[in-house]
Amino acid sequence: MPTHALLVRPALNRVYAESSVALMAAELAVFGTHVLGGRVTGIEPTRIGGVPYLTFDCPDLSDRDADYLANLSSAYALFELRGDLLAPVTLTPLDKFDDDLVTIQKYVGKTNEHFTKLMLNLAVVSSAAGPDMLTRRLRVFDPLCGRGTTLNQALLYGWDTAGIDLDTKDFDAYSTFLQTWLKRKRVKHQADVNRVRRDGKVIARRFTASIGTTKEGYKAGDALSLDYVNADTVESPRFHRAGTFDVLVADAPYGVQHGSRATGGLHRGPIDLVTAAIGGWSGLLRPGGTIALSWNTNVVPREAMVDALTTSDLTPLNDGPYLEFSHRVDQAIVRDIVIARKTA
Ligand SMILES: C[S@@+](CC[C@H](N)C(=O)[O-])C[C@H]1O[C@@H](n2cnc3c(N)ncnc32)[C@H](O)[C@@H]1O
Repeated sequence: MPTHALLVRPALNRVYAESSVALMAAELAVFGTHVLGGRVTGIEPTRIGGVPYLTFDCPDLSDRDADYLANLSSAYALFELRGDLLAPVTLTPLDKFDDDLVTIQKYVGKTNEHFTKLMLNLAVVSSAAGPDMLTRRLRVFDPLCGRGTTLNQALLYGWDTAGIDLDTKDFDAYSTFLQTWLKRKRVKHQADVNRVRRDGKVIARRFTASIGTTKEGYKAGDALSLDYVNADTVESPRFHRAGTFDVLVADAPYGVQHGSRATGGLHRGPIDLVTAAIGGWSGLLRPGGTIALSWNTNVVPREAMVDALTTSDLTPLNDGPYLEFSHRVDQAIVRDIVIARKTA
């Protein structure tokens, strides 16, 4: 008899909704192993009253356990099962801002926000920072950040974040969006776009912001840090100090025309891009840090991407629930995730 039932958030995107129950089952299994002491068993998709839930056993679910589950990427509500009745368990997600921060922007090539949160969660709980997820301000890097879905999710969690993207339009759109959003929400902040110079030459543009999660905190000098560099991702180590990020999360170019946008048109195919960038990316991770990378398996088979993330200091987590994240995005894209952990 299962002890708990998670109500799955109705996803706006129909195709993602079809996969979201299976993806959350695998996400819950990863949480179970890494941050819930291996106590989660019997995870099953179940319909209760015609509505999809995930049921599972977790004896003696503590407040801390519920606080972790509150942040699952598609969790809507959690209940304890008492016979046929559902008793609500209060969920207190980490969110520091309104969640329209991740939902308002709509554009071709956007990584679905629930999926982005899934990747960030997997990276964090699989990393050395997993035990600190609820208490420490983590540092998140997206080296292919587009218009900033990962950056926004990291800010929503109350964490520091940085991104790089080569696309000038994405850089401009994101810096405009975030500044407008912060003003509209009356969030205390300071934001600037500057040129980065090396040896007298301009090598990139950089958007930085300090963002208060509360007015009082901001006045006392406590602010989240946001940093977006408009440059080639292989140059990442030029813009950040080594060993300073807890996790790195990226949705690689699909290598096909996605909507009206040729995301594969930026110089390299996904595997060449990852192969060229991986050394620099992993150098930016703290020991025990993780990379979560998603890509289109119609263009690059899983074994090839796992190989690309197997380096002298990175080990892919390539078993159990980590093999359960493949899902269809559209006719041309079947997306998968690989997580790799840096030697501690
Ligand atoms: C699938 S999209 C990521 C979308 C992003 N997660 C979002 O929600 O906006 C892949 C991104 O990789 C970027 N990209 C491709 N090659 C790059 C390179 N060499 N350096 C930096 N960014 C690159 C593209 O501009 C694109 O924004």
